[in-house]
Amino acid sequence: MFTTKANYLYVEPTSHCVLKCPRCPRTYSPESYSPNHLDLNVYKDFIQSKYFGNLDYVEFGGNLGDPIYHPEIISFISVTQEALPSTKVVIHTNGTQGKRKWEDMVNQLRGIDIVLFSVDGLEQSNHHYRVNSNWELILEGMRISAKKCHTVWKYIVFSHNQHLIEEAIKLAKQLDIKTFLLTKSSVFNGDWLVDGIDPLAPTANWQFNPSVDNFEKPTISARCQNQSMHYLDSNGRYSPCCWINTDNNFCISASGPDFIEKTLNGEVLRNLKESWSSGSPHSICGRKCRDSSNNQKRSSHSQLEINLNQEINVIRDMVEDFSRSS
Ligand SMILES: C[S@@+](CC[C@H](N)C(=O)[O-])C[C@H]1O[C@@H](n2cnc3c(N)ncnc32)[C@H](O)[C@@H]1O
Ligand code: SF4
Ligand code: SF4
Repeated sequence: MFTTKANYLYVEPTSHCVLKCPRCPRTYSPESYSPNHLDLNVYKDFIQSKYFGNLDYVEFGGNLGDPIYHPEIISFISVTQEALPSTKVVIHTNGTQGKRKWEDMVNQLRGIDIVLFSVDGLEQSNHHYRVNSNWELILEGMRISAKKCHTVWKYIVFSHNQHLIEEAIKLAKQLDIKTFLLTKSSVFNGDWLVDGIDPLAPTANWQFNPSVDNFEKPTISARCQNQSMHYLDSNGRYSPCCWINTDNNFCISASGPDFIEKTLNGEVLRNLKESWSSGSPHSICGRKCRDSSNNQKRSSHSQLEINLNQEINVIRDMVEDFSRSS
């Protein structure tokens, strides 16, 4: 479903969020950004570019915030649907709505659209990572969304929830959710130890360890090539992807009538592309898009996408196989 081969635009409508997930950069590195909302007019101009006519997905999420906290998120959705009627809109959210009602947002979504809830556990455990989350609001959102749109429960495995996976899957089925995205994270890399132990780390079989091949001259299989991937951050800056957006040199202000054309054919991206074949690519490209037989492992996570229409026994076997895979 979320294949990297698809044409997609990833948008960060806001860097605001009411949660404090400890391993999100907005929590552990608050000095590195100032919270702000993307201007709706900047987005409107951007989405109407001829380059985006064939997008499969417009995803609202981002590196730093949660789209549901943009006061005009419903207008962002409607502007996208008007400009690109056959493109699917995807919302990545922690599910804890603020002042708005879930109903109001879901009313603007269509059957082809997707709401992906980042919920890592059940009532007694989700808040151990999703600090400040509200279980009642999450459940309400999931229920309402599942009636109208393709609804996904994304579950990152931590120490506090690894024993609750099956229970969460059963609840997801009861709520009529269609997909469960079980995720092994790579954040348990030794940077967060307390007395030699990472308190959030699940057992080793639930951690993702990207392999570190040491090629002398790595070549790059760029996921952003052929203009199939784009990122717009809450400051109105364009980058080819959300990873490279963490380097200011590759964040280009999205303004002016010929902006996209100038950017995609401009010097900054030309230099980046040249670096891919030079043998010394940008370090982020080297980590995320290095060409190797193991290219799948370049991500920061590994995921199992479970279709919840299947019997629980079948799902149980899939989960067990996934827990054994490295
Ligand atoms: C920064 S969040 C922004 C979107 C939204 N606020 C959310 O949490 O889903 C972007 C993605 O990072 C994921 N994420 C957050 N903490 C993570 C972790 N420790 N390991 C892997 N992915 C993580 C979220 O689940 C989400 O899919
Ligand atoms: S909900 Fe998303 S944006 Fe908010 S703190 Fe957690 S990971 Fe970061
Ligand atoms: S990490 Fe580099 S090569 Fe990969 S998608 Fe981003 S910009 Fe392109």
